[in-house]
Amino acid sequence: VESLTVAELAKKLHREPSELVKKLFMLGTMATVNQELDKDGIELICADYGVEVEEEILIDSTDLETYFDEEQNEADQIERPSVVTIMGHVDHGKTTLLDSIRKTKVTEGEAGGITQHIGAYQVEVNDKKITFLDTPGHAAFTTMRARGAKVTDITILVVAADDGVMPQTVEAINHAKAAEVPIIIAVNKMDKPSANPDRVMQELTEHGLVPEAWGGDTIFVPVSALNGEGIDNLLEMILLVGEVEEYKANPKRRALGTVIEAELDKGRGSVATLLVQDGTLNVGDPIVVGYTFGRVRAMVNDLGRRVKSAGPSTPVEITGLNDVPQAGDRFVVFEDEKTARSIGETRAQQALQAQRGEKTRVSLDNLFEQM
Ligand code: GTP
Ligand code: MG
Repeated sequence: VESLTVAELAKKLHREPSELVKKLFMLGTMATVNQELDKDGIELICADYGVEVEEEILIDSTDLETYFDEEQNEADQIERPSVVTIMGHVDHGKTTLLDSIRKTKVTEGEAGGITQHIGAYQVEVNDKKITFLDTPGHAAFTTMRARGAKVTDITILVVAADDGVMPQTVEAINHAKAAEVPIIIAVNKMDKPSANPDRVMQELTEHGLVPEAWGGDTIFVPVSALNGEGIDNLLEMILLVGEVEEYKANPKRRALGTVIEAELDKGRGSVATLLVQDGTLNVGDPIVVGYTFGRVRAMVNDLGRRVKSAGPSTPVEITGLNDVPQAGDRFVVFEDEKTARSIGETRAQQALQAQRGEKTRVSLDNLFEQM
């Protein structure tokens, strides 16, 4: 990818996105934080900050994934649940849809079970699991992609049938396309008398999303997030896409994944929701997460239950880290605590140096590698 969004570049430069927007405005360009900047745009901003675009950003040069290169047996690769985010224009029903999916599925057979909010959850459909990220899709794409993390397998694009394609719908399409993630269209609010799904299909066709009924290959599912109509169908379509794409992982190796969200809890200390993307995470594992490290003290699943291990595509909340990581940070489990500690401490040092601005030069190649 030969571009970065304003927000992504801001992250790289350790600046606020709004500051870059202002800067661009001063330079004569109106931009939003989600706007894509090409190489020239990036160079323009870097030049304005007096940042050279040759040298590497120290902090990003040590990609945690390089510690995840142990030999693997192909036969250990097995099917894993799809990880889904929901995107769409303001008020088109993203939250209602997530709630509706959760209500119809998560609580089934979970009598009395109080679903704890951990920023992600799993549902079971036809004996198969699907993982939903609870973060707004845009945030998931911008902040996570800015850190080089790819967490989403499938994007559900919610478009209100009474409103049609709106600016953020287009933005969402661009994000999903840039990330090369399959898009399923949920044509929402079908219960409304003013619903006009044909118009939605027409407008999306103009953006290259042609429904199967019209000879294209985009799945459109009419739904009502409000009354639950079409939700089962939508979930089945997600399973279908998952089957076609064949998402796989190896549950036998040590875990790798991404931080979904994290915070400092008064009683429990650093609490982080992690999405295990490969391998299996266990209580007691020595772990480096972003620029902090620790040992997994306790793990809680999306139903608020304590678990001892979590396999691929499973979201879990963990405690036991030294510091609070950031959404989008990668994590890797190490074989022994000594190594985890040494790498974690080095990275913490690097992060501190970068914050102090001791090393602020960015490499364009390095920037693009991260994508
Ligand atoms: P933001 O988070 O603000 O971007 O909005 P959102 O996309 O999460 O939309 P939200 O789920 O908050 O829904 C916006 C409004 O639309 C609420 O009043 C919902 O009750 C309503 N709504 C959502 N889905 C449906 C639907 O299927 N039918 C009808 N009639 N109303 C819906
Ligand atoms: Mg919402």
